[in-house]
Order: sequence, then C-alpha cells, then structure tokens
Amino acid sequence: MSVNALYPGTFDPITNGHTDLIRRASRLFDRVVVAIAASPGKRPSFSLDERVRFARLALEQIPNAEVQRFEGLTVEFARSHDISVILRGLRAVSDFEFEFQLAAMNRHLDPEVETVFMTPSEQYTFISSSLVREIASLDGDVSDFVHPTVEAELKRVLGAGPSRT
Ligand code: COA
Repeated sequence: MSVNALYPGTFDPITNGHTDLIRRASRLFDRVVVAIAASPGKRPSFSLDERVRFARLALEQIPNAEVQRFEGLTVEFARSHDISVILRGLRAVSDFEFEFQLAAMNRHLDPEVETVFMTPSEQYTFISSSLVREIASLDGDVSDFVHPTVEAELKRVLGAGPSRT
C-alpha cells in the first residue's frame, strides 16, 4: 500500500527551508503533494501561478514530489486526492501552538486524515517567506534562502528596481 503526504502552504515564495522538508519527506512517503493555497487573506506578493512555477523549479530534483494548487479546505483536497497524511513543518516551539490548533481542527473536519510534523535542518529553522520577502525588498542577499530563479524574481518584484504595478 502506498502512503502519500500532502504538504499545504502559501509558499510566497517557496524557500530552501520548505525544499529541505519536502526532500526529507520524499524519503518517507511514496509521493509528496505540495499543495499551494490561494490564501487570498494573506495578500500574497506572488500570484498563485507564479508560486506554483517557483515550487516546480525548486523541486525538480525530487522525482516523487509534485506541485498542485488549491483553493478550498486542505482536508477536502486530501480526501479528493486519496491522501491521508497532512505534513507540516515545526521550525521552533513558537510554531507549535498554531500547528496544534490547525491539526486539531483538521482532525475535527476529517478524522481519517492524520497530521505528521517534521523539523527542517537547523540551518533553515529561522527562515520564513515573509522574512525573505522583507530582505529582498531592502535589497539584501537572499541567495542562501531561495532557488536562483526565485531570487531573481524577488529582486524584480520587490527590489529597488522598477515596480511591476
Ligand atoms: N521552511 C521555511 N519556512 C517555513 C517552513 C519551512 N519548513 N514551514 C513553514 N514556513 C513558513 C512559511 O513560509 C510561512 O511564512 P510567512 O508567514 O512568513 O509567509 C510561515 O512559516 C507560516 O507558514 P504556514 O503555517 O505554512 O502558513 P501558510 O499560510 O503557508 O499555510 C495553510 C497555511 C495553507 C496550511 C492553511 O491556511 C490552510 O490549511 N488553508 C486552507 C484552508 C483550510 O483548510 N482552512 C482550515 C484550516 S483548519
């Protein structure tokens, strides 16, 4: 029996911390489906199409990882794709409270779906997408944190250069 995992998030944009976690998960699960949420409430800097494209680029070396977009509930997406594991990353104790609540709510919504937590390697515990965006917007170096294409797009969209709006 194959066991597949769903890794949901906004990925605005995907970072090397996410990629590290997905690489680790790809060794444990037959397939890791990275589900990119529209998350309109977070007013993402990148469109859903861009976030999907960046994730596909960042994950092209991981053959059993695939990227999909979604707009509804995570548990609905899991159910409709026959996935019974939601994967979430815990970078620090501060993540725990929100993750505990999210896992409990998802379990309430669908008791058949289990949440599994993994930790990224220490060098990525302090990364978040919003910090990466902030550094890029101030023309800081984000090359350690994101795929080179994402770095270039961050500079284009958020850097001191011409705005795309
Ligand atoms: N490496 C680097 N950064 C990481 C990380 C890792 N391994 N894991 C998490 N992060 C960062 C993210 O980049 C994000 O940074 P940001 O806030 O600066 O953008 C931050 O941690 C929070 O990430 P996350 O908790 O994954 O939030 P999210 O917005 O990316 O995802 C959803 C939240 C999409 C999973 C949640 O809103 C959801 O399930 N939505 C679907 C609707 C739904 O089902 N709602 C009911 C839920 S009970």
